[in-house]
Amino acid sequence: MIETITQLTALRERIAGWRRDGLRVGFVPTMGNLHAGHYSLVTLARQHADKVVSSVFVNPTQFGPNEDFTRYPRTPEADTSGLEAAGCDVLWLPEVEAMYPFGVELASNVHVPGVSAVLEGACRPGHFDGVCTVVTRLFNQVQPDVAAFGKKDFQQLAVIRQLVADLHMPLEILAGDIVREADGLAMSSRNQYLSADERAVAATIHRVLLAMRDAAQRGQARVQVEADADASLRAAGFVPDYAVLRRPDFSVPGDAEAGPQVALIAARLGRTRLIDNLEFDLPG
Ligand code: PAF
Repeated sequence: MIETITQLTALRERIAGWRRDGLRVGFVPTMGNLHAGHYSLVTLARQHADKVVSSVFVNPTQFGPNEDFTRYPRTPEADTSGLEAAGCDVLWLPEVEAMYPFGVELASNVHVPGVSAVLEGACRPGHFDGVCTVVTRLFNQVQPDVAAFGKKDFQQLAVIRQLVADLHMPLEILAGDIVREADGLAMSSRNQYLSADERAVAATIHRVLLAMRDAAQRGQARVQVEADADASLRAAGFVPDYAVLRRPDFSVPGDAEAGPQVALIAARLGRTRLIDNLEFDLPG
């Protein structure tokens, strides 16, 4: 049976009890409206820990002023039963006052330079500061041995890894594979904003990522790969923020450069902003 905890003192007592019993603690932070991608992270955390805590907190500090904080889907009952079925032991459900005791305006801010500045960071100023600010708090509250994040938010994962390494946080970060719908659309809480017509074309993003990988592997020049991807997205009705090839550290690869690369897309379809990515290798 999953236990829902809303007070930090109760959370700390529960986790201290596990620690006394010598148990390892896994953690899956979320903003709720959970889907199979989140539940796969619970499974992953469970493989590396004896107990799993998942948090649901729609974090105001990672949304820009014109973003979807107020309409972000909140589905507490479905989340609770889904987490229980996935094998989560504790649902940590903090109030905003518990997360930000001095208020959002006076919150200590955690900024990870470099990797936060490009792509998502450039399109959504302050977004990663909000993510790092809340994730630092969540890590301090739960004090897990391992924490699982999805590769769909490829850049977020890199930012969190840098945060943990730079601040010597004593935990291991696990990366969960992207979980896709049958047509290739990456699972996301924001998919439900899509109209039926938009949903019918949304998987174009995944097809364009595959085409970017194939073109890069055929030796096509990077700028051409990116221009073709941009054109394909626009032809399908998207307004791309970016469609790029990068090294895993977000530096720009040379044309047909051997080694690991990642194709990354962020694009708007109507009022919905979708992101996705595809990792691949170019043989030497
Ligand atoms: O990936 C998310 O859902 C959020 O950015 C996170 C990590 C839970 C922080 O609010």
